[in-house]
Amino acid sequence: MADRFNTIAGWTLFSGIVALGLSSIAGHYFEAGKFEKPEKPGYKIAGVSDDDEKAGGEAAAPFESFLATADVAKGEASFKKCMSCHTVDQGGANGQGPNLYAVLGDGIAQGRGGFAFSDALKAKGGKWDWTSLNAWLEAPSAFASGTKMSFAGLTDPQERANVMVYLNSKGSNLPLPAVPAAPAAGTAATAVALVGDAAKGQKSFAKCASCHTIAPGGPNGQGPNLAGIYGDKKGEGRGGFAFSDGLKAKGGTWDDASLDAWLSNPSGYVPGTKMSFAGLSDAQERANVIAYLKTAK
Ligand code: HEC
Ligand code: HEC
Repeated sequence: MADRFNTIAGWTLFSGIVALGLSSIAGHYFEAGKFEKPEKPGYKIAGVSDDDEKAGGEAAAPFESFLATADVAKGEASFKKCMSCHTVDQGGANGQGPNLYAVLGDGIAQGRGGFAFSDALKAKGGKWDWTSLNAWLEAPSAFASGTKMSFAGLTDPQERANVMVYLNSKGSNLPLPAVPAAPAAGTAATAVALVGDAAKGQKSFAKCASCHTIAPGGPNGQGPNLAGIYGDKKGEGRGGFAFSDGLKAKGGTWDDASLDAWLSNPSGYVPGTKMSFAGLSDAQERANVIAYLKTAK
């Protein structure tokens, strides 16, 4: 979890470099190692040795990095593609497909108000987790050959990730998986760390001030007082503020990476959070606000 931001930045940068050299990676994000490497790359890429290329080919951007940046609202919009067959609210009816409330974490092809699943899906066994659901939504009939779900699948990994965090927000609330460490070549490519400007961050904090005070001893409002939040435990203390279960379950302390992930997409970082704030999409603005939070002791 530590350094999540750098990890994601590393992967993003790294896959960019790899995609330059090996366009055949496209569409094979999740079949690491299975793609064909051209016999002789047409040109050399500065700073990328053959070994680096090989390592990269075996480890293009992991799905976890798409989940880390996934957007519940966009997932809800994409879920329109599913609604001809599925409801998702608690107690919703089965249609051509089963109701999907709390499906993440649930057994594959089980329960769902007695829905008549295909033998193909019933035979799978196991649970819907981030990995199995990703495979299923990418290509249902490849995941369970003979499935009754006549849906081609979602080819865009970011769209799948969005739909998955949306489903997760409907009764499941599983923690997001950690993003694996980026390969050395990615970090060697010098991800530029953004330096925050606390004075600018203080100005941006106007966006937070409707819900948060930050002076030591300030009252809790719709959100908790944030004095000394940097380095403090997530979802704890703060004068007895009633945190959501999602944030309480997060664990650990607020550092640069976790604050960056949280402020970029609160409901992606903590599904079910009570912080109804869309997030700051500008990385520099987030860095500024984090620099300001550090000054608020
Ligand atoms: C044309 C109708 C249709 C569409 C569109 C469709 N599904 Fe399905 N879905 C089904 C059917 C039918 C099943 C049962 C499959 C089986 O038994 O083989 C199913 C099963 C599922 C399951 C497994 C449920 C369980 O309890 O095991 C999930 C998860 C799911 N669909 C998600 C989605 C999502 C997300 C979308 C949109 C991106 C979608 N489906 C689009 C018909 C559809
Ligand atoms: C609409 C109200 C609202 C806005 C605007 C808002 N927050 Fe929050 N914030 C909350 C709530 C509510 C919580 C508690 C979340 C929970 O329990 O899931 C929270 C929690 C937090 C936490 C975690 C506190 C802890 O003790 O773990 C941080 C950090 C935070 N907010 C920072 C910010 C910053 C920085 C901004 C502006 C960029 C902001 N918030 C904007 C309502 C808001």
